[in-house]
Amino acid sequence: MERKWWKEGIVYQIYPRSFNDSDGDGIGDLRGIIQKLDYIKSLGVDIIWLCPVYQSPNDDNGYDISDYRNIMDEFGNMQEFDELLAGIKARGMRLLMDLVANHTSDEHEWFLESKSSVDNPKRDYYIWRQGDNGTPPNNWKSIFGGDAWLKDETTGEYFLHLFTTKQPDLNWENPNVRNEIYDIMKFWLDKGIDGFRMDVISFISKRNYDDTPYDELNVSINKTYANGPKIHDYLQEMNKEVMANYDMMTVGEGPGIDLTTARDYVGEERNELNMVFHFGHMFIDHGPGGKFDPVPYSLPEFKKVFSDWDKCLRGNGWSSIFLGNHDFPRIVSRFGNDGQYWKESAKLLATMLCSLRGTTYVYQGDEFGMTNVEYESFDDFDDVEIRNLRKALEANGEDLQKFIPIVNKQGRDNARTPIQWDDSENAGFTTGTPWLKINPNYSDINAASQENDPDSILNFYREMIQIRKQNLTLVYGDYQDLDPENNEVYAYRRWDDDNEYFVFHNFSEIEVQFPTDVSDYNLVVINYGSPEISNGAIKLNPWQSLIIKTK
Ligand code: GLC
Repeated sequence: MERKWWKEGIVYQIYPRSFNDSDGDGIGDLRGIIQKLDYIKSLGVDIIWLCPVYQSPNDDNGYDISDYRNIMDEFGNMQEFDELLAGIKARGMRLLMDLVANHTSDEHEWFLESKSSVDNPKRDYYIWRQGDNGTPPNNWKSIFGGDAWLKDETTGEYFLHLFTTKQPDLNWENPNVRNEIYDIMKFWLDKGIDGFRMDVISFISKRNYDDTPYDELNVSINKTYANGPKIHDYLQEMNKEVMANYDMMTVGEGPGIDLTTARDYVGEERNELNMVFHFGHMFIDHGPGGKFDPVPYSLPEFKKVFSDWDKCLRGNGWSSIFLGNHDFPRIVSRFGNDGQYWKESAKLLATMLCSLRGTTYVYQGDEFGMTNVEYESFDDFDDVEIRNLRKALEANGEDLQKFIPIVNKQGRDNARTPIQWDDSENAGFTTGTPWLKINPNYSDINAASQENDPDSILNFYREMIQIRKQNLTLVYGDYQDLDPENNEVYAYRRWDDDNEYFVFHNFSEIEVQFPTDVSDYNLVVINYGSPEISNGAIKLNPWQSLIIKTK
């Protein structure tokens, strides 16, 4: 397999609003990131992915962009951006920006023009339709609840918004729109950035509005919104116009991209994207109504997602390996155990992130085991998805308090609480009032307290990242799940012509014996205790995880 920097590189995702506030306004900013670059470098990170920092009215925290070529006032200015980029380069790291090209803010000048009259030259930058006797053009629903169409009084027509009402969808059928986006990409690449994470890129080509009705949310993401008829024309054109001319990395956020469509996006002969974020494991507990309608799932189902994707892209294409981001709960709370086995399970997940085939992504704060937060009231939440849920519940006369536990478990604010740097006031995140309540557990869980502790989650991440870099078989080697049906253990073999590794993770609170005929091995890493292999089995303590090298 061809070696590439974007396959071997460790990506660290920053959600700037919550990362580090340098000026006391309670909101993270670019200067705050600059102050932490040595910390990020110390993790072994190669690539920083910065969530949107562009001008935005912040209806969806920067994913509603009103000016793609300027920095959001709360985050700083272009000079500071240049300084950040230079600081990243000086440390031998690279920068990925977020490209939000499915929609803009309704305050973007394109939209202000577009909505001003039916014959404005920018009218076709967005998707406008006549309503049907006072009702929207069809039954499409927004991912964040409510209709996906909003009537604009100026012209009496409806515009499409798959996300909030302040995020009108761009009309990619219009070549001018596509060229605008390519120009924006070039603007940032010419500044020296190294690529893009592309927001909901699977949604940019729309299906026929009349023939493709909305079903339940989880069905419609795949069948109504994603993988529209021209998606591959657009990505190939974008590749030809932009990607082909730079040494850059692309990762497409791909809700609705599944095993049947993945290769069309990332197959090498396709000239589209380097990799996508698929949601096989991330939507695994989403019921028909989405994340706030959760359903149980088993470890075999979870493992199958990784095995199926590895098989799907074996030999052609590339995967991204991630367990969380700014849209999902904290990984140790979701896939680990944030109680008794907090430290052990956080280290297990680190081992998993660094030992599967694909590019490793670490989300800010996961490297020292930040957990979900427990808010008491809907007033504590900021996320527009949760605010919309509240409105819908209120409209139905539901008891809000009943939904707090579900929102605490599934909501996006879990990943957005400010980073817990130390145990000083406001966790060292800000000297002002944080924009979102800090998780009260910051006095126990914070980066500073783990810095000099050799046994900490933070130092384990550092170690695990180095292990991955020194053992490239963990990056490129083949993969086989050793016991797909096992309900407690996720065990796999990674190998190539020269090396062979076995990885064992006990995803449970019980001690288990796992059959193995391995006897001659070197221990590569273990999250706690020591390996106990005898009589044809390995004994795994609760949440124990290890890698051994047999060749
Ligand atoms: C993506 C982003 C999410 C955002 C949405 C709309 O899913 O990750 O944060 O709300 O797109 O832009």
